[in-house]
Amino acid sequence: MYRGKLVTLRPFTEAESARYLEWLNTAESSSQLGRALPVTPLEHQAWYEGLVDRHDAVVFSVYPEEDSRYIGNVWLWKVHPIHRSAELRIFLGDPEARGRGYGTDACRVLLDFAFRRLNLHKVYVYVLASNPRARRTFEKSGFREEGLLRDEFYVDGSYRDVIRMSALATDPWPPPALATPEVSQ
Ligand SMILES: CC(C)(COP(=O)(O)OP(=O)(O)OC[C@H]1O[C@@H](n2cnc3c(N)ncnc32)[C@H](O)[C@@H]1OP(=O)(O)O)[C@@H](O)C(=O)NCCC(=O)NCCS
Repeated sequence: MYRGKLVTLRPFTEAESARYLEWLNTAESSSQLGRALPVTPLEHQAWYEGLVDRHDAVVFSVYPEEDSRYIGNVWLWKVHPIHRSAELRIFLGDPEARGRGYGTDACRVLLDFAFRRLNLHKVYVYVLASNPRARRTFEKSGFREEGLLRDEFYVDGSYRDVIRMSALATDPWPPPALATPEVSQ
């Protein structure tokens, strides 16, 4: 378990995986994540079972400190042993849990895990330009923009730009995005 100020990251279990699939296939989630097609139960089960053999992925479930309610996931994907880099992905499926600071805290805990436990140098994210909440969350977590992928995804009838953001282990903390330092490390 890895604790932040607001959330704890725990290992991802099969029971949580079923809940995750329900959240994933809502129209709102597909739009924010840029997914064109629904995920079938079989596809999802194969993905979940495949995690055990993936040495380039670390998946956590997110729990608010004050209760035992599972609210979503945050994970590292494509962990690269030479470049010491990985992609961060996050999905708080429970709509009630959004906008309370949990996503920012979960990203910060995972970044700390990536840099200090895994000795990674760089963590990056891909975020739709049309998802300002996610962009702000990553900015507050220490990510900064490094590139724009024009018309990268076709979502809900139109092409969308995708922004790539990254955080380096050597970046100063707190990030410039935080006018007032909230945490120290
Ligand atoms: C994106 C996500 C991880 C963010 O986590 P969260 O817990 O909801 O976010 P937080 O509460 O930590 O922070 C949200 C920030 O965005 C801001 N925000 C929210 N809506 C906004 C908008 N429309 N425009 C600009 N900023 C916005 C909030 O004000 C807050 O910033 P502040 O603290 O400076 O006020 C979560 O909402 C989620 O999983 N959403 C669905 C899936 C998704 O979009 N995943 C990301 C894919 S790249």
